[in-house]
Amino acid sequence: MALRAVLFDVFGTLLDVHSVASRAESLFPGHGQHLSQIWRDKQIEYTRIRTLSNRYVPFTQVTEDALRWAGESLGLDIDKAAVGLLMHAYTQLAPFPDVVPALDRLRAADVTLGVLSNGDPGLLEDAMHGAQIGEYFDLLLSADAVHAYKTAAAVYELGPRNLNHPAAEILFVSSNGWDAIGAQWYGYVGFWVNRNGAPAERLHTQTATGSSLDAAADFFLRSNLT
Ligand code: LAC
Repeated sequence: MALRAVLFDVFGTLLDVHSVASRAESLFPGHGQHLSQIWRDKQIEYTRIRTLSNRYVPFTQVTEDALRWAGESLGLDIDKAAVGLLMHAYTQLAPFPDVVPALDRLRAADVTLGVLSNGDPGLLEDAMHGAQIGEYFDLLLSADAVHAYKTAAAVYELGPRNLNHPAAEILFVSSNGWDAIGAQWYGYVGFWVNRNGAPAERLHTQTATGSSLDAAADFFLRSNLT
């Protein structure tokens, strides 16, 4: 079956969430990497707890709560100013180096491109603008529309609903293995961008996989040649 559009995850897939580590390192020498890792893990954990218990708050709030927890867990003095600086840094994340070339190729082939992210609309707009990749996308879909987070089916449903194509005709690209699988469970063709050679999630589902966003672009363009 031909693929008609591509949806991308944002945080961790297009934008490097760990690009805040250098900012964190300058504030808390010796702790930047560790803080960034705990922050990210806690952020995802909170999205899941809140979705399971139907206690939605926007991703920006989840992200700030996770940052404060991460700082406290490392015994760091994360005051209001530090929170402000690091939350601002979260709107200025760097795109991974393979992002713009892959988007250029898909754009040149006239492919409909969108993002489907846990990020609330304000954060998404700021982050895409900060990374200067906003103009590549026909639509920015946010989990905020359904007040739940991935991997809830209601979030993935935003794709087919807004693109007017069945999920089976949409390629969903994520560097978060669990997200590529969640999307495929929903009905998309999932593609996992495994940049760091991580072990595959043991969730008894295989998605298409490659080591860069370029591989995802290849997969899409090849599948439409036949
Ligand atoms: C997102 C999370 C998974 O962008 O990082 O949806």
